[in-house]
Amino acid sequence: MSIPAKVKVVEVGPRDGLQNEAQSVPAAVKIELVQRLQAAGLTDIEVTSFVSPKWVPQMADNAEVMAGISRKPGVRYSVLTPNLKGFEAALLTRPDEIVVFGAASEAFSQKNINCSIAQSIERFAPVVAAARAAGIHVRGSMSCSVGCPYEGEIAPARVGYLAGLMKSIGVQHVGVADTIGVGTPLKVQRAVQATLEHFELDDISGHFHDTYGQALANTLMCLQMGVWQFDASVAGLGGCPYAKGATGNVATEDLVYMLHGMGIDTGIKLDQLIDAGQFISNFLGRPTQARAGKALFDKRSAS
Ligand code: HMG
Ligand code: MG
Repeated sequence: MSIPAKVKVVEVGPRDGLQNEAQSVPAAVKIELVQRLQAAGLTDIEVTSFVSPKWVPQMADNAEVMAGISRKPGVRYSVLTPNLKGFEAALLTRPDEIVVFGAASEAFSQKNINCSIAQSIERFAPVVAAARAAGIHVRGSMSCSVGCPYEGEIAPARVGYLAGLMKSIGVQHVGVADTIGVGTPLKVQRAVQATLEHFELDDISGHFHDTYGQALANTLMCLQMGVWQFDASVAGLGGCPYAKGATGNVATEDLVYMLHGMGIDTGIKLDQLIDAGQFISNFLGRPTQARAGKALFDKRSAS
């Protein structure tokens, strides 16, 4: 088995995690979370989204959060931008990377961003062009790459089709996203293989929600394919407001525990990451979803 010696973890908790919270989370708490995550060694942090505040009220403080973080050199701060309006607002906050987010499923595209897959690509094209002209890296997210809450199973060819469209408009990197966490390793392998028809291995990442407890198994499959970039959410926060019942991404603490246990370097200080997870869990008033994170925290508290 040949697996990468190093993995880049993209922390999506402040965005994917908190977007789904019903209770209001003040900008100051989001800023503190980002500070703690970067102090723990995360070098890629998805901070917020420039989407409609009517659709996702929790992200309405996007500019305030971006303005409030003290940027650490070497950290890439990314934001989601679904259209030019979002991009123009995001640009003022100086993101290092923007994310356009499409779906392999027509029904999910309609529910999430209110347009078809083809229309979404038309909307993304000028965003991608403007971002690249401004020297901003562009990532594309491909929701429902293995399953859709409305359409069920998604064939790999549909993932390949979306990846091809993303490539054609200048997207530099794509994330294979299991939005509702229904994927199992062989299905994820096929979705990644379909993506590899359009993107290099170095330009593909995994984004696995953990609804069915499959995220680490899916990650391991990707590692065996040579994929070395993964999104994760501190304390396992989150879900998507337009995918009912889906839980958060794989918890960053659990992903890092597995990677370090396999001798894979992440540059992340697990102890500090666990503290960041405790910080946001305490604020939200519920236990962390990070199982290894919780076990290590309890062990440390007991000793
Ligand atoms: P729309 O209603 O079709 O847009 O929404 P519109 O262009 O017709 O505009 C309607 C109104 O929205 C107008 O305001 C616009 O100004 C405003 P009004 O005149 O009614 O007052 N508007 C905006 N306001 C702020 N920022 C913007 C913006 N655009 C329009 N960017 C839109 C289309 C995409 C905006 C809407 O559907 C939306 O905001 N959707 C939110 C989608 C979202 O954030 N989903 C969660 C993130 S994706 C995710 O979690 C999946 C991921 O994690 C991967 C995975 O797990 O699968 C990435
Ligand atoms: Mg997600």
